Amino acid sequence: MNAIYLSGTGNTRYIVNKLLDELGRKGTVLPIESEDVKKAFGGDEIILAYPTMFSNIPYLVRDFINKNQNEWKGKKIFLITTMGLFAGDGTGCAARLLKKYGAVITGGIQINMPDSIGDCKALKKTAEQNKVIVKKAEQRVAEIAKKMKEGRYPREGLSFWAHLAGLFGQRLWFYNKAMSYSNKLKIDGNKCVGCGICAKGCPTQNIKITDGKAVASSQCTMCYRCVSYCPRQAITLLGKEVYQQAGIEKYT
Ligand SMILES: Cc1cc2nc3c(=O)[nH]c(=O)nc-3n(C[C@H](O)[C@H](O)[C@H](O)COP(=O)(O)O)c2cc1C
Ligand code: SF4
Ligand code: SF4
Repeated sequence: MNAIYLSGTGNTRYIVNKLLDELGRKGTVLPIESEDVKKAFGGDEIILAYPTMFSNIPYLVRDFINKNQNEWKGKKIFLITTMGLFAGDGTGCAARLLKKYGAVITGGIQINMPDSIGDCKALKKTAEQNKVIVKKAEQRVAEIAKKMKEGRYPREGLSFWAHLAGLFGQRLWFYNKAMSYSNKLKIDGNKCVGCGICAKGCPTQNIKITDGKAVASSQCTMCYRCVSYCPRQAITLLGKEVYQQAGIEKYT
């Protein structure tokens, strides 16, 4: 079972690997931004995984599905989305698009994980609370894997009711936020020391170092990796101040 994932702060990557471990299955597991990502298109079944964003797919994932539209015909896809609180039909959004290109959706899971939006005060938890969230997620994934081994695949986020919940719960109000790349990334030049961590880690190559300072462009998929790993807390996106830098390694 191969897997392709987008993971800004590591939650989604963690869940993908945990599920494969629990299933006892090996395969090519690659981040969506990898140059070799097409190697993961082979095999009998592919996991496609990403963080929920505004009960929607991150734009990079949508772009990836569309750009590779000829690859999906007849492919079996299992969808994983991770979320901070509420995903609605987070898996369903990708499922509908993939089905349009001929993919067969074998199932989906939506897993609660620590919130990754480090520059908004809402939803912030302590490290201890986040560790508990991750533990519960691990337990859920173990239970899910047990059922999958018996051929019982979950279909979280794929029903008509989940579609309605996602649409009315969030997507109608935030629709535009996830339907293009963002040009809203802000880098405080006074704080930035030009270390390049943000530029190196960005999955869309949206940041360049120019004259010793990081400069953002307009291709941000809002993954929050740069916000979370900047050693000077110089980067913000939806908010104006960094309250908490996320990162799965802090909670495992
Ligand atoms: C821009 C943005 C929008 C988000 N929207 C939602 C949301 O609608 N519902 C939710 O439960 N979590 C939301 N989250 C939280 C992430 O989905 C969650 O923390 C996820 O596990 C992060 O995964 P990652 O570490 O693999 O990037 C959002 C995060 C970001 C950065
Ligand atoms: S990670 Fe932070 S300090 Fe380093 S280059 Fe990027 S913005 Fe500057
Ligand atoms: S600029 Fe930052 S938040 Fe935007 S895609 Fe790149 S790493 Fe993610």
